[in-house]
Amino acid sequence: MDESSCVSAPKRRLEGKVAIITGGASGIGATTVRVFVENGAKVVIADIQDPQGEEIATKIGENAHYIHCDVSKENDVKNLINATISKFGHLDIMYNNAGIYDTSIKSILDTETVELERKIAVNLIGSFLGAKYVAKVMVPRKKGCILFTTSCSTEVAGLASHTYVASKCGVVGMCKNLAAELGLHGIRVNCISPFAILSSNKVDNEIEARYEAMIGAIGNLKGIPHNKEDVANAAVFLASDEGKYLSGHNLVIDGGFSVVNPSFLKITGQYQ
Ligand SMILES: NC(=O)c1ccc[n+]([C@@H]2O[C@H](COP(=O)([O-])OP(=O)(O)OC[C@H]3O[C@@H](n4cnc5c(N)ncnc54)[C@H](O)[C@@H]3O)[C@@H](O)[C@H]2O)c1
Repeated sequence: MDESSCVSAPKRRLEGKVAIITGGASGIGATTVRVFVENGAKVVIADIQDPQGEEIATKIGENAHYIHCDVSKENDVKNLINATISKFGHLDIMYNNAGIYDTSIKSILDTETVELERKIAVNLIGSFLGAKYVAKVMVPRKKGCILFTTSCSTEVAGLASHTYVASKCGVVGMCKNLAAELGLHGIRVNCISPFAILSSNKVDNEIEARYEAMIGAIGNLKGIPHNKEDVANAAVFLASDEGKYLSGHNLVIDGGFSVVNPSFLKITGQYQ
């Protein structure tokens, strides 16, 4: 290959592909919608925040469309898949990103069963329904990519609430099992597990700076902020033809946090 040909315009890695991104009206999902469209995809934003979802779709124009979908409701998910195919003709990527979480971590002694039921309904059943109804259209086509946003807390204990971790670990387990079955039909299934990202755009610079400093201090990789684009770019890679032989992974985006135990380094004073 002529290496000089590498110096060219950035690749549009998802050209011609159609994607659904659940939870696409805000945070990581909204950033991923933008990055997918920049990479040539047509994207359906599925969410329960209708004004925000509509606004993003309108700003993007013909390559995006908003559909109201509560991922925990079977009929909403069925409708989402059918409406996407009616709108854009086919469906290549299902990114099950919608999720709910807690802003604080409680003891098991104070955790109500209903909190677990809610996480399971949105995070796990929502992901299950997305995978089930998209598989119905991907299996006959013998191709497709299914993604889930899980969490670094599926790899390291103590980072989030018991109910959240239970729901996200369920998704990681289901992802691997789906990869086993759907791989027989040429369909790839992967998880993306971010570390901690300030996903709301509605915080002031001071809060943002404090948050970044805190994550920078506890994180392993120094001097590099972790942001929504890290997740969006990983999703583009996994969904693109460049990721064509990747399936069954939980791609943890945490700058090495989950593989480093800092206790030993602290005692020995190594690397200081
Ligand atoms: N931000 C982080 O630090 C972080 C870390 C690890 C994992 N995650 C995961 O990333 C995903 C995106 O989170 P985020 O940080 O962008 O938060 P966010 O709250 O900004 O986005 C979540 C989106 O999901 C939507 N949603 C919630 N319930 C829904 C439902 N029943 N049906 C459809 N849509 C629904 C919300 O309206 C929202 O638009 C979640 O699955 C979350 O668990 C986030």
